[in-house]
Amino acid sequence: MADERVRQVYGIWQARWYDPFKWLWNILVASGAEKDMNNFLRDSLDENETILELGCGTALNLEKIFSLGLKFKRYLGIDFSPEILRITNRKFQGYSNVEFREKNITRLEDINDKFDIIICTWVLSHLPSASSFVNRAQGLMKEQGKFFLIFFSEPRWYLRFWIAPLELLVWSRYVTDEEVSKFKNIRKIRSYSGRMVTVVEIHDAGGLM
Ligand SMILES: C[S@@+](CC[C@H](N)C(=O)[O-])C[C@H]1O[C@@H](n2cnc3c(N)ncnc32)[C@H](O)[C@@H]1O
Repeated sequence: MADERVRQVYGIWQARWYDPFKWLWNILVASGAEKDMNNFLRDSLDENETILELGCGTALNLEKIFSLGLKFKRYLGIDFSPEILRITNRKFQGYSNVEFREKNITRLEDINDKFDIIICTWVLSHLPSASSFVNRAQGLMKEQGKFFLIFFSEPRWYLRFWIAPLELLVWSRYVTDEEVSKFKNIRKIRSYSGRMVTVVEIHDAGGLM
């Protein structure tokens, strides 16, 4: 999807309404995926871990980490929407180990650090090539690192008609099964809600990409 159009979609009114919309979305279609994420975070995080979140939005995942009472060493959230980041920064003012950066996640060449945990939820369907993004982002994982993704995926045929208006509303397109088959180093994959929601866990394969 064209970056500029996506950025506009997450401009002023969407930014303001994003949190209540996501709350409803989680109840209606994403509760299974959210439970998987809670388990992943509980199993993976401790005070030594560094986290990179790609397309962090209003940092609802960081709020989740705090609400689960989990510790971490450093969190870096990246998003290219200034309106969204204004809300995000307001939520997390004064946290010395939390940083947000305004940046396009399809251009990550200047990120020199590597991270223990990478999170990317509900972003892939906005990107021109989900598989090349996922495989490139794996280069930012430390040895033994883990990458957790939730995304809008190819639904069963009977849902496709109903999904079309939603795709227009948030300017996105489901990630096809063919694209997902190109993701490297998948350790776990699960689908929910008529296969509309997919959760993928990727683990570092020790340089075997
Ligand atoms: C549906 S929201 C998901 C936000 C968050 N990950 C969550 O689960 O609540 C998608 C976010 O991805 C961001 N985004 C989309 N394409 C991007 C890109 N190419 N670079 C950086 N951010 C992007 C949007 O600005 C928006 O905040």
